[in-house]
Amino acid sequence: MMHTSATDNREEVRRRSVEALTPEIVAFIERCAGDTHATSHLISILHKVQSHFGYLGREQMDAVAQLLQVPAAKVTGVATFYHYFRLEPRGRFVINVCLGTACYVKGVERVADKLCEELGIQFGETTKDGLFSLEGTRCLGACGLAPVVMIEDKVYGDMTPDQIPALIEKHVFTAQREEREKAANDAKS
Ligand code: FES
Repeated sequence: MMHTSATDNREEVRRRSVEALTPEIVAFIERCAGDTHATSHLISILHKVQSHFGYLGREQMDAVAQLLQVPAAKVTGVATFYHYFRLEPRGRFVINVCLGTACYVKGVERVADKLCEELGIQFGETTKDGLFSLEGTRCLGACGLAPVVMIEDKVYGDMTPDQIPALIEKHVFTAQREEREKAANDAKS
């Protein structure tokens, strides 16, 4: 029967934590861990993790806790306290609705309501098929086109609620085309 020592276990846990992150993030956490106020670096560590992975997965948060040597509950607590952090992956398309003053005055609320209704989600959520996430954003600097919605760096101006179904459909078609192209490429290789 094989016996595993506590040291082996620690090494195994460390190995898995390193694998869940990137070498740069691991190096950053290790620098922070040497500090007497290691937990004060938690927010900047989580920022780095989110900007790389797009969200904070359970595996990544556990890895941060292990490497920083703080309880996992502490990491989860910080991640859930700040609205900035996302605990779920974003959809293929992130629909950013401008919540700035000009867009508000021009009726972006009705556009936002229609988006929620058509997608069946609220702001901050992602559709079950993983296609769309709905988010609010500050002024996009296109106030002359208010009300404005942005998807993948493309600005859609003068939006009205009745334009929403076609806008969604266009992106569903794009996703379907991408799927077909990916399947064709996979079949070739
Ligand atoms: S307020 Fe919406 S683009 Fe400026």
